[in-house]
Amino acid sequence: MIMDRKVLVVGGGGRCHAIVDALSRSPQVSKIYCAPGNAGIAAQAECVPLKDTQVMELKQFALDHGVDLTVVGPEASLAAGITDVFNEAGLRIFGPTKAAATIESSKDFAKRLMEKYDVPTAAYRTFEDYGEAVEYVRDHSMPVVLKYDGLAAGKGVVIPDTFEEAETVLREMLLDDMFGKGKVVVEDFLMGPEFSLMCFVNGTEVYPMALSQDHKRAYEGDSGPNTGGMGAYSPLPFITDEDMEYSVEKIMKPVAAGLVKEGCPFKGVLYGGLMKTPEGVKVIEFNCRFGDPETEVVLPRLESDIYDIFSSIADGTPMPEIRWSDRATMGFVMASKGYPGHYDKGFDITGLEALADDPDIKVYHMGTAFAGQTGASVHGQSETAGQVMPEDSDGRMAAGKRTVTAGGRVLMVVGFGQTLQDAHDKALEAVEHIRCDNLFYRRDIGWRVLQPSGAR
Ligand code: AMP
Ligand code: GLY
Repeated sequence: MIMDRKVLVVGGGGRCHAIVDALSRSPQVSKIYCAPGNAGIAAQAECVPLKDTQVMELKQFALDHGVDLTVVGPEASLAAGITDVFNEAGLRIFGPTKAAATIESSKDFAKRLMEKYDVPTAAYRTFEDYGEAVEYVRDHSMPVVLKYDGLAAGKGVVIPDTFEEAETVLREMLLDDMFGKGKVVVEDFLMGPEFSLMCFVNGTEVYPMALSQDHKRAYEGDSGPNTGGMGAYSPLPFITDEDMEYSVEKIMKPVAAGLVKEGCPFKGVLYGGLMKTPEGVKVIEFNCRFGDPETEVVLPRLESDIYDIFSSIADGTPMPEIRWSDRATMGFVMASKGYPGHYDKGFDITGLEALADDPDIKVYHMGTAFAGQTGASVHGQSETAGQVMPEDSDGRMAAGKRTVTAGGRVLMVVGFGQTLQDAHDKALEAVEHIRCDNLFYRRDIGWRVLQPSGAR
């Protein structure tokens, strides 16, 4: 075993912080670079001032710095073809090719693949023409689900309450090109608890991770607009072993095998956004990468060496045994007021140091920077775009530097416990210690498992 591996992690949000944290537990890894990273990641990795989509510059960096393995966090890098570019240069990389990443970047591609390989999902139609879409929705019982066919930073899915609202959304997506020129998938509305099944995938081989559940809506009671995710926990007591087996055998494996048959084998993390409906588990969406904030509650439970897992997928060699701890995790996202709409940034965050040594707490930074590096405000941008990066990239906690908000989602505060209730209590206590004038959070993360008599 070589013990001085250098790893480059591409990305700068909470998911990348959790990946960096997991890599830092590997005895084989001696150096971690993260591009662009953030103020929290800077404590565990050397931050590199490159954006996640600067694919050519990232390749050059990896070549110049003798990087052994690159691990990709965000979908934008994958959709920009980072894996193809690294593969051509003979560099080892963990993440799917651009062609395989289409499972996330095109909802229409994902739906057609599921239809072809008989994977359970909501019935749908895809439209390019505004008039045809409006006509279809008019004849359809409400609610329907409207999905923009492209990357839209978690904001491309709308469930309108009325026909008039649906018409407005279709106009924005198909006539005003709100997210760019594209198609819209109109899908039947399904009901039931959602859950996230992330799997390490190597062609037809599928290795499920521990289950987690995200909370997509901005406000308590699952109300308000959809966000990238406001909190998560793992494990999931309401998903049975049979549900899990069905999800792996009837959903994840057929999709992985389908991608191989279509000529774009998937290597990386295939994320199934699934729903336990009264008719069984069905697919809501696929992502081609680790979920955020799910990764922040799943990877802390991984007991195996993550470098071995990444390596074996990058190299196509046999997978090591993957072990998960029995500890429960629950995390609360602290987001900038106004998110997922307009928000300001640059607000001081204090109270983090007191939590740093608590073995039952981990604070993953999603959108932070050191004071002096953040712009005034953003409007509706992806909060993980990584425009903001720490100044001193020396891999040590920058003593004396002020940490400030620099994104929509700012921190993911994760508690650990013997039970989900313990993990919840720990995390909430920690959240209340963090001081910042411009953050909000949902206090009801985990309601489904903490109130077993409540609506399930
Ligand atoms: P997506 O980006 O496709 O995961 O959609 C975002 C969110 O919209 C999901 O997490 C669900 O809460 C909701 N959603 C998407 N598709 C459906 C559907 N067919 N039925 C009900 N809710 C849905
Ligand atoms: N938390 C949902 C996602 O990562 O897409």
